[in-house]
Amino acid sequence: MTKKVLIISSSLRGGSNSEIVAHEVERGAVDAGFETEFISLKDKAINFCKGCLACQKTLKCVIKDDMVELIQKVQNADTLVFATPIYYYEMSGQLKTFLDRCNPLFSQENKFRNVYLLTTSYDASDEASDNAANGLKGWVACFEQSRFAGLLAGGGVNDPKEVSKHNDLLQKAYNFGKNLK
Ligand SMILES: Cc1cc2nc3c(=O)[nH]c(=O)nc-3n(C[C@H](O)[C@H](O)[C@H](O)COP(=O)(O)O)c2cc1C
Repeated sequence: MTKKVLIISSSLRGGSNSEIVAHEVERGAVDAGFETEFISLKDKAINFCKGCLACQKTLKCVIKDDMVELIQKVQNADTLVFATPIYYYEMSGQLKTFLDRCNPLFSQENKFRNVYLLTTSYDASDEASDNAANGLKGWVACFEQSRFAGLLAGGGVNDPKEVSKHNDLLQKAYNFGKNLK
């Protein structure tokens, strides 16, 4: 059966570098035969988790916003790819909020197995994405059936669309998408 890859792009700005990278990953995934769905959080209304933990009994969130539909998409995916700009050496707040709001999934059987992270940052050093990757690894560790399957860190890009000039990184992203599991 064709594997479903859900790509969540969390940058809210126009010309987002991480979103451009994510689209290249999607192109590779499509060429590798995956079924893909690309979602930008730009036009989504996603409130903070209140921490009430009602979801652990009802398997539903008390907040009725766009996460109702998005959680279902996470539930139907085999593979998850999250894209984020690096903000203060961490993942974006938007992505963290998205992950927190997936808490109704915590006490359920879930289908998704491999979870990937794509980042872009001004800082080109190898360490620039470490905290963001560790944050996502922490989330993944809470879902026993899943594993953190890879990081693609795009360092050295700052201005909107700047990554479009980095053909090496775009090629890497395409190959990353082709090799998703
Ligand atoms: C609030 C904020 C914080 C940032 N913090 C960092 C940082 O800690 N390290 C870094 O290298 N770049 C930082 N940047 C730069 C972005 O990571 C960089 O511009 C990235 O390419 C943006 O990705 P996007 O176009 O997908 O939003 C920051 C940008 C913003 C807006």
